[in-house]
Amino acid sequence: MSSNLYQNDIAFELQIKKIDESRQGETLTAARPTGIRSNGKKYYIESYGCAMNFADSEVVASILAGAGFDATTDHNDADLVLINTCAIRDNAEQRIRHRLQHFNSVKKRKKGALVGILGCMAERLKEKLLVEEKILDIVAGPDAYRSLPDLVLEAETGQKAVNVLLSRDETYAEINPVRLNSNGVTAFISITRGCDNMCSFCVVPHTRGRERSRDWRTIVEEARDLYNNGYREVTLLGQNVDSYRYSDDNGLVGKKLVNAKYDDNVVNFAKLLVLVAEVAPDLRVRFSTSHPKDMTDDVLYAMAKYPNICKYVHLPVQSGNTRVLELMNRSYTREWYIDRMNAVRRIVPDAAIATDIIVGFCSETDEEHQDTMSLMDMFRYELVYTYAYNVRPGTTAAKKYEDDIPEEVKKRRLAEVIEMHRSHTLASNQRDVGKTFEILIEGVSSKSEEQLFGRNSQNKVIIVPRGNLKPGQYVYAKVNSCTSGTLIGEVVEGM
Ligand code: SAM
Ligand code: SF4
Ligand code: F3S
Repeated sequence: MSSNLYQNDIAFELQIKKIDESRQGETLTAARPTGIRSNGKKYYIESYGCAMNFADSEVVASILAGAGFDATTDHNDADLVLINTCAIRDNAEQRIRHRLQHFNSVKKRKKGALVGILGCMAERLKEKLLVEEKILDIVAGPDAYRSLPDLVLEAETGQKAVNVLLSRDETYAEINPVRLNSNGVTAFISITRGCDNMCSFCVVPHTRGRERSRDWRTIVEEARDLYNNGYREVTLLGQNVDSYRYSDDNGLVGKKLVNAKYDDNVVNFAKLLVLVAEVAPDLRVRFSTSHPKDMTDDVLYAMAKYPNICKYVHLPVQSGNTRVLELMNRSYTREWYIDRMNAVRRIVPDAAIATDIIVGFCSETDEEHQDTMSLMDMFRYELVYTYAYNVRPGTTAAKKYEDDIPEEVKKRRLAEVIEMHRSHTLASNQRDVGKTFEILIEGVSSKSEEQLFGRNSQNKVIIVPRGNLKPGQYVYAKVNSCTSGTLIGEVVEGM
């Protein structure tokens, strides 16, 4: 689960943990808080999309638990089936429509059972979804989760219940997310909601609304709470964490602060990182996603100074060509991006760097695609999330540019990116053989009950023999061998 977590168009084994396909469709279990009486109804929730959506499902679980709902992991047993959806590409939406067909059987079997859609697809399609998917009773957008208990009551009367209002200040700041389905070691903390960047290809600003920063005190409190409950790693989440800005005067709407005088009243992302890192020296802090136009040296200096701020930066480039970047409305050039990457290398030399790449954006030529490849060759990313451009209705690109790159060309470019990345990760893993890293043990390896896995600061997964180790423990692991996907090691006394 590193911070930022999306599904690759062409899946291949990656050695660095991400919020990946293995979590898509994950269900969440949750207990009712003490003192809240059961309302006799059970809910089931399934999540898709990015880390922010998974974090939102934990907020939803908390809101429903507070209203007396009990959780179930068996949708056949549920009175309320919820799907928290993603709209980033068409295939994400198609997947959810297929899933809805499956839930039709629940409704048929259990009289009165309700089915609801939450998240980005709900926001994108709104009431239209109710017409297209007859099975649906509830549609709730990302800023409407506090109203869910009321929407359920409304739907129980036989009406279709919809709330897709976007808010300029909702951050669910004081809601304590429910984490019961987690590994008890790592957790997400949302620090901003929405996005103001308006990249021309992207649906997120349309589905999640304006950017808002959450009160830093509630973030630090949540991190402390998690630490006191045994968690040892938090990932601070936002579509663009670098634009985090909170002040008591007008902090709720991040943009208002752009012209505000910088003073001690304002907590920016570098300050927030330090505040969270100081919760405890053995609480690891990760963050995602960084934006090249906003990532400051101050953030990098904070990373360099605090050993518990993990040495991993997710800095999506999207394209290595300035003309394409301009069409994408990314607000930086190839040269600016190279400067930011060099700053990371200079200030945090041991940092691993991940990126996102879109191939086949409108009018991208083969030469322009080669600019992306040359950037990859220059920086040899530890992890690359690759996507073929997919038109999203309502976005600037959909309105202004033609999706003129043939599918087979997109596929070929995608395969080239993936092939180059595969060779880089294998070489990087081979360089790690013989080295010793501190790792945080997270759980049992998917390959064998006799092995555990943990991650180093650079976000690489290392498999070690189980021994007497427990999740949540820090140990030193010496890497003995590797594949292009995995580091295999043993526990040693020290570095
Ligand atoms: N906020 C992050 C940033 O700016 O880098 C990324 C968030 S977005 C949810 C995740 C990734 O999906 C993007 O970085 C981009 O590579 C990819 N993506 C978004 N819209 C896309 C589209 N229309 N077609 C293909 N990939 C897309
Ligand atoms: Fe989408 Fe761009 Fe915002 Fe990322 S920064 S969420 S790519 S609009
Ligand atoms: Fe995330 Fe998908 Fe929405 S990537 S912000 S859940 S469109």
